[in-house]
Amino acid sequence: MTGRKGLDARLTHYGDPEFARYLRRSFAKSMGYSSAMLDRPVVGIATSASGFNNCHRLIPELTEAVKRGVLGAGGLPLEFPTISLGEVFLSPTSLVFRNLMAMDVEEMIRAQPMSAVVLIGGCDKTVPAQLMGALSAGLPAIQLVVGPMMTGRYLGERLGACTDCRRFWARYRSGEVSEEEISAVEDTLAVTAGTCAVMGTASTMACLTEALGMTVPGSAATPAVHADRLRIAEATGAEAVRLSADGRTPDHIVTRESIENAIRVLLAVGGSTNAVIHLAAIAGRVGLTVDLRRLNELSDSTPVLVDLKPTGQHYMEDFHAAGGVGAVLHELRPLLNLQCQSVTGQTLDERLRERPMFVDRTVIRSFDDPFQRGGGLLALFGNLAPNGAILKRSAADERLFEHEGRAVVFTGLEDLAARIDDPNLDVRPDDVLVLQNAGPIGAGMPEAGYLPIPATLARAGVKDMVRISDARMSGTAFGTVILHVSPECAIGGPLGLVRSGDRIRVSVKERRLDVLVGDRELGSRRSDVVRPTLPPRGYARLYAQSVLGAELGCDFGFLRKA
Ligand code: FES
Repeated sequence: MTGRKGLDARLTHYGDPEFARYLRRSFAKSMGYSSAMLDRPVVGIATSASGFNNCHRLIPELTEAVKRGVLGAGGLPLEFPTISLGEVFLSPTSLVFRNLMAMDVEEMIRAQPMSAVVLIGGCDKTVPAQLMGALSAGLPAIQLVVGPMMTGRYLGERLGACTDCRRFWARYRSGEVSEEEISAVEDTLAVTAGTCAVMGTASTMACLTEALGMTVPGSAATPAVHADRLRIAEATGAEAVRLSADGRTPDHIVTRESIENAIRVLLAVGGSTNAVIHLAAIAGRVGLTVDLRRLNELSDSTPVLVDLKPTGQHYMEDFHAAGGVGAVLHELRPLLNLQCQSVTGQTLDERLRERPMFVDRTVIRSFDDPFQRGGGLLALFGNLAPNGAILKRSAADERLFEHEGRAVVFTGLEDLAARIDDPNLDVRPDDVLVLQNAGPIGAGMPEAGYLPIPATLARAGVKDMVRISDARMSGTAFGTVILHVSPECAIGGPLGLVRSGDRIRVSVKERRLDVLVGDRELGSRRSDVVRPTLPPRGYARLYAQSVLGAELGCDFGFLRKA
């Protein structure tokens, strides 16, 4: 039966719609709802709290605040769980499960009777999964992020997950920090609920979601434990009721133009490389692509405005106090597509009519006085990466931007773990470390692209080297790390043909990444490539059969919009 609304929508199939409606309402009444309440527009609240997700610890409290907003605006809030992806609790890596969560979100939105949905997530893969699912489900949707953690202190030093985790770990590896000290630091890196305290993937995706127009304005950077976070949740609930009435689906908000706005913000905040993958996957759900050559064009004209770790000094709580995404959007205004609409119905132009009353310029610079003239990310192409690779320029050492060096190849994660600290490893500071077979099919594309500096060199004071892989890197990491090389090694990508001793050339100026080996020699190495075997069953098999390359966001081919 079409045209039914609220709780009467999408009835269970018993062959008698009136009976299905009657049964549903009587069962709903077992939860104590009155008839009047059941006649209200239903706002589903997709929650992703889990004992395996520290970042989402406050979702129950946020859900209550969303419910207040929904009830106050005349709707009926009904929460429902989906799977949750706690970044550090998943093996082999959370990205493998992002599409599973997206499918869960999509199917539960589509199968259950609701007129709009609030999506509550935050940890790295959860927000893209929720947006992907909601875009494909095609129902009005609004995102609420959980917000970032506050920083901790260790002997007076301010620490935040997880850039400082990596910094201390690197110092421990090089022998500067003792066993006792590293365990004491462990207690102070992640001290509240919320997502990582720096401009990692979670914070980047929160900023991009606001830039896309999928959240209420001003919500990306508010700390998880701040009272404003609950007021944002309440406003989100109220907005969802309005969205259910006007019926605007997220494909009217996530458009080619708003995706370009999001890319501008990604570049200006010095955001995570992972966001390029997630944006490509989100774009694919509305039939769009993120063209990496277009990314380079945008990067040439978008300055880095934000001084946040891992590329700068500050933390998300400072970004919030400094003016947050709103202040960045104001600086980028002349570059943005201002007619894009948000979930509130407001255009970006309308949002930006009033200038912020205060911006802390130590954290968010003006357009004319940026931290860096070029954007934080760029794509490289060449015979090593015909479909592209990503470099986080803002986190890299400029002295390595034009570099030629000898390849030191690790054939996979096990080989890397076994040999990187071998005192007999033949490696010099100007070598190029290559990790193979760590792409989406090869290994689930783990955040292993930030190869550790070999112990012998780390102890000698080497802080950065060119590192290349088909893996990803945590948004909280830094260094001259070239990632997402595509096609990946597991499907015959040329990175898999590199041998130790080959010369590799990187040119940021020319946007090139090449191995200086002739085509004939490379061709002769193809017969050595070993393709991974297909997992025998279950989700792992579906994943291996369906996952697309990094440039298409590692989505499943059958989930993209044709
Ligand atoms: Fe959840 Fe970093 S571990 S955002």
